[in-house]
Amino acid sequence: MIVVTVCSTKGGVGKTTLTANLGGILADAGNRVLLVDADIQPTLSSYYPIEARAPEGLHHLVTGGSVEGTISRTAVTNLDIVISDDPDGSLENWVLHTPDGRVRMKHALKGLTGYDIVLIDTQGAVGPLQDVGVLAADLLLSPIPPEILSAREFARGTLGMLDRLRPMQFLGAPLGHLYGIIYRMDHTVDARRVADSLRKATFADSRGAISILETMVPGTVAYREAATARVPVHRWERQRRGSTACALETMTSLVHELLPHVDLPTDLGEV
Ligand SMILES: Nc1ncnc2c1ncn2[C@@H]1O[C@H](COP(=O)(O)OP(=O)(O)O)[C@@H](O)[C@H]1O
Ligand SMILES: [Mg+2]
Repeated sequence: MIVVTVCSTKGGVGKTTLTANLGGILADAGNRVLLVDADIQPTLSSYYPIEARAPEGLHHLVTGGSVEGTISRTAVTNLDIVISDDPDGSLENWVLHTPDGRVRMKHALKGLTGYDIVLIDTQGAVGPLQDVGVLAADLLLSPIPPEILSAREFARGTLGMLDRLRPMQFLGAPLGHLYGIIYRMDHTVDARRVADSLRKATFADSRGAISILETMVPGTVAYREAATARVPVHRWERQRRGSTACALETMTSLVHELLPHVDLPTDLGEV
């Protein structure tokens, strides 16, 4: 089992959309996938329809250190979810004031059986709950808007986060490698130029802790339409309309690059 955490030090960059769609394509490929909505605002929790709601959710997973009773079933076959439930907003404070609060979820997931991949969505702000998600990961995935200023901010903000959490390795929680993905690409920007300078900058600064994926996710209406229809985007957009890669191509390429051990069948999307 591999745990992937989608994170960024900024909000609104596409974390939840990316988590939902990565989960969707991996599940359609026959993997048993568990999503964890570790954002207080439960956006991922309502992305897909819930078919069987578990009595517990994120609160119990983080505080109780156990997955028992926390796993709900979505309408997508092979795709389950731990729903975000923190009605009184006490979770962040609990993590802050509990000595092992930041690593309890990591240990709970270690005991999880029956899943191939766990995908954790996080809030787009630095804080104890973001730490919980980041520390649970085998690898980290971070969407980056394709503007050079955002890109530099990514390198700084994310490096700061990794530096701050690195000492947790002495408590048995080493950090996963971080993959940046250029996200919401549009035709007005020279994609290659931004990507290349980002690669150079992160290579120079990050001491090998960060790499930028070749795959880029275009900014297209398909991602919003699929969210409205509550289906994985690779099912929604299976063919190119112009020069922009369709969602099936993009998500396939992302899986190949990020999780090379995962096989994707050729008839994906024909569900
Ligand atoms: N590839 C994309 N192209 C266009 N719009 C997108 C894309 N991905 C996400 N969006 C839209 O961008 C907004 C923010 O995305 P979201 O995934 O909620 O970000 P975050 O979780 O980082 O806050 C949403 O309205 C979503 O529909
Ligand atoms: Mg989100």
